Amino acid sequence: MILGVPLASYPNERRVALVPAVVPTLAKAGVEVLVQREAGEKAGFSDAAYQEQGARLIPDRAQLFSSADVLLQVHGLSANPGAEVELMRSGQVIVGLLNPFGSPQTVRELAAKGVIAFALELLPRISRAQPMDALSAMATIAGYKAVLLAAEALPKMFPMMITAAGTITPARVFVVGAGVAGLQAIATSRRLGGVVHAYDVRPVVKEQVESLGAKFVELKLEAAGAEAAGGYAKEMGEEFYRRQREMMMQVVAESDVVITTAAVPGKKAPILITKEMVQGMRSGSVIVDLAAETGGNCELTRPGETVEAHGVTMIGPINLPATIPYHASQMYARNVTAFLRNLVKDGALHLNFEDQIIQGTLLTHKGEVVNSQVRELLGLSGSTVSNKEL
Ligand code: NAI
Repeated sequence: MILGVPLASYPNERRVALVPAVVPTLAKAGVEVLVQREAGEKAGFSDAAYQEQGARLIPDRAQLFSSADVLLQVHGLSANPGAEVELMRSGQVIVGLLNPFGSPQTVRELAAKGVIAFALELLPRISRAQPMDALSAMATIAGYKAVLLAAEALPKMFPMMITAAGTITPARVFVVGAGVAGLQAIATSRRLGGVVHAYDVRPVVKEQVESLGAKFVELKLEAAGAEAAGGYAKEMGEEFYRRQREMMMQVVAESDVVITTAAVPGKKAPILITKEMVQGMRSGSVIVDLAAETGGNCELTRPGETVEAHGVTMIGPINLPATIPYHASQMYARNVTAFLRNLVKDGALHLNFEDQIIQGTLLTHKGEVVNSQVRELLGLSGSTVSNKEL
């Protein structure tokens, strides 16, 4: 089986889907690795390093696409999906973060081309899939970096300091959404010396928040049933969010930094910080909205931009893990290597459609869009192809 790793074409993307260190592991599983020249350069992995580990360098994209059985990307197809799909052929496999709910039309194009597409976002949350969980790996990085962005923008320091020039009080940080990114934001803020509060609709995270040295904010909200399968949050309805905003008003006003990470998979992020709540914050405060990519948790967030209103800086970063490309690539490469080893048997593609991991991540097969949510978004009638038919 030949695996192709193209140079990323997504704007500001610095990650590479495979790092040299995993090439020998894949070779042992019977996979030959082709890497487009300079694919790892921006992440700190030279062409020579890939060659040393046994990968073959390919000078151009078209050649790489035509030689590979399986294409491996980070942000798959996003820069120019039409042109990328054009380069692909029937029976070819693509694995990556394919943003299936954000760009269902691209999924339709992949199906029409006969491509077999796997979206890593759809990995089932079962223990066997944990080493493949690219979303969690990237969320860890985003949570860490969010705190650095906040610290940089804040006109204050994070730690408490007792100095000859007086005592500096610590920064107060409020993290909304204590999933993977939120927990890492809490840990990083604590390492910097901030006083951290956090809230999540899933009451089970209280203990995790406290174990990191933060205080869980109790809101008198009926959040039972807020957790869906796999540990994700469910959509709660506008009345719930209205009451949540009301109850968070005070803690937001008392915070120097608010980091929001609240997401509901496949849905637009809920608005949890309104314009009025921003107005209530002290001048100089900072909001980092990690939900910017799915619309943002703050009403004033502008995805991809940093804006200021009422003296408050609002940062709406997009593709934050790409700003720490070395470790993001290393983690992603380990995730996809585990995923690929589950797809390959004796050096050939082996698609066991009974396997929960394969079933969960498969988007297109035999010319059809097979994921039911994407089918729904595309308005496709009828149920998905059954596992037996696959
Ligand atoms: P996510 O990125 O979809 O959401 C982030 C956080 O926002 C979640 O904790 C969610 O509960 C929270 N949230 C949603 N609406 C909210 C609201 N209105 N107010 C406050 N918070 C809100 O989720 P993520 O971080 O990918 O995962 C969530 C959880 O899933 C993890 O904490 C973990 O327990 C579980 N998980 C399980 C895995 C497994 O393999 N079994 C792998 C990874 C995570």
